[in-house]
Amino acid sequence: MLTSELDSATLEGLVSAAVAAPSLHNTQPWRFRFRPDTTTLEVHAVPQPALRITDPSGRGLHLSVGAAVFNLRVAIRQAGHEPVVRLLPRTPEPDLLAAVRLAGPSRPPEGGGRDLYSAIWRRHSSRLPFTDAPVPAAILTELAEAARAEEAFLELPSEQEIHRLLAATAEGERRAVSEPGRRRERWQAVQDDPSRHYGIPTEAIGPLDAEGRLPQRDFAALRPGEHQRTAAFEARPRVAVLGTARDEPADWLRAGQALERVLLLATAHGLRASLLSQALEWSDLRWALRDPRHGPGHVQMLIRLGYGPEGAPTPRAPVAEVLDRDG
Ligand SMILES: Cc1cc2nc3c(=O)[nH]c(=O)nc-3n(C[C@H](O)[C@H](O)[C@H](O)COP(=O)(O)O)c2cc1C
Repeated sequence: MLTSELDSATLEGLVSAAVAAPSLHNTQPWRFRFRPDTTTLEVHAVPQPALRITDPSGRGLHLSVGAAVFNLRVAIRQAGHEPVVRLLPRTPEPDLLAAVRLAGPSRPPEGGGRDLYSAIWRRHSSRLPFTDAPVPAAILTELAEAARAEEAFLELPSEQEIHRLLAATAEGERRAVSEPGRRRERWQAVQDDPSRHYGIPTEAIGPLDAEGRLPQRDFAALRPGEHQRTAAFEARPRVAVLGTARDEPADWLRAGQALERVLLLATAHGLRASLLSQALEWSDLRWALRDPRHGPGHVQMLIRLGYGPEGAPTPRAPVAEVLDRDG
């Protein structure tokens, strides 16, 4: 019987894989509850009052939880079971975002034969400069197929279009650093204390682009006495646009799963990635990110891809802090 087979080491392994997912400012806004009667792992959101200006609708929170759900799926398959996902399974419970039942035995894994499970542990955001080596078209096509398999789309804009997307991102960045409330929310995300399990350590932040072409988030923006270093970045950043046809909470969860599937597949191909979400915090800029030639749709994330150094790891809360076994 599956329930008795699912020993606590396996359960902890599944949750460790889930929490390795990216999350907005590394807030890790998730809790897991195991229901042994149905061999189901429930994924609950933890609302983030500290990001009420940056993420008022909870869209970023849903993307983060969706990414954790994707890792859970990959890890459940690795453990030999078939994951059966229900998004928003009980609508009167707003914080219960997904229920993942372990059915068995597993079918062939997502990723078309690529080892996405080992990529879970190797994936980090890399905000460091990339080389000028282009990402091969065949890999980009594979990443777009991965997004489609998760009911999302991944557009691969031209250099001119990327220039336009980065200009909107720079405008989002400019607005954010001129608002004291938003600046404070960013500063709180940066942490130097190794005993804290949340937030972004300073070594994971990386320099700013000396040429100003690539407006990565300036986490130290105008923090008294702090100046972020600058460095030369790749001359032609490769940015992909992840989006969904609709823009409801379930679509945000799908976008999060698509985001993580794309990031893990990119990692399996030896690519690095960083995320640019500043323009998405402003409804006019988010609207402007759409490419009208591709028809209707809602942009959920800009993903920068390339070759370069691995990003520094970020901390995670211990499994015991996020897993409730009692049901
Ligand atoms: C919804 C969302 C938005 C994000 N936006 C940004 C961003 O604008 N800039 C950035 O550098 N990282 C961004 N990130 C990446 C997180 O900061 C990162 O995932 C987190 O610090 C954990 O680090 P890791 O990705 O290396 O595991 C975002 C992540 C998510 C899920």
